[in-house]
Amino acid sequence: MPDRLVAPSILSADFARLGAHVDEVIAAGATLIHVDVMDGHFVPPITLGPVIVESLRRHVGPDIDLDVHLMIERPERSVAAFASAGATGITIHAEATPHVLYALDAIREAGCRAGLAVCPATPLGIFEDVAVDQALCMTVNPGWGGQPFIPSSPDKIRRLRALIGPDVPLMVDGGVGVKTAPQCTEAGADWLVAGNAVFGADDPGAAYREVAAAAGVA
Ligand code: DX5
Ligand code: ZN
Repeated sequence: MPDRLVAPSILSADFARLGAHVDEVIAAGATLIHVDVMDGHFVPPITLGPVIVESLRRHVGPDIDLDVHLMIERPERSVAAFASAGATGITIHAEATPHVLYALDAIREAGCRAGLAVCPATPLGIFEDVAVDQALCMTVNPGWGGQPFIPSSPDKIRRLRALIGPDVPLMVDGGVGVKTAPQCTEAGADWLVAGNAVFGADDPGAAYREVAAAAGVA
């Protein structure tokens, strides 16, 4: 079974002091940092690109997992840039390209774990046809931090778990905090992305520990 993890999402961090903010959650035990990339097309906001991942990689050193969530159209065009910048996992959206299989292969060829994400309204059938190294079930509509967890998500998480089997890490993303984390883990999630619940708090290290405790992270 995959390790259970809470992955702080830097979307809610203070970008003017990103290194220090990330240090706080790493000191509290985080080993996987979730990096949200948005292009202003697939989702309305624009966030960050490979240069930030490169700086983060330099800052955190080689042992921290930088897991990049690409909310961008035609993600296959950007895989190489994020991989050379230091990503260890790259997740694309099923809705963002007609070439999902090609993109997943490109991610693996670049030396990263290949992840596939689906928006809340997207059927899960694609997971019957492609093998992934990690699966992401969006539990809010992608684009913004701080949104409420979609209540029907646990049912979808359960169905996704059944499709990918017990060994593939299942990540959930959106509205995850102390209250919703247990619902996600009970439904079969392994990796819980938490943005606002961690970096929206006055003390991100303490907030990370609270969410990790609620999620039963060892
Ligand atoms: C939303 C992003 C999330 C975001 C989650 O589109 O993919 O990773 O940071 O934020 P919270 O945890 O605040 O819902
Ligand atoms: Zn994300």
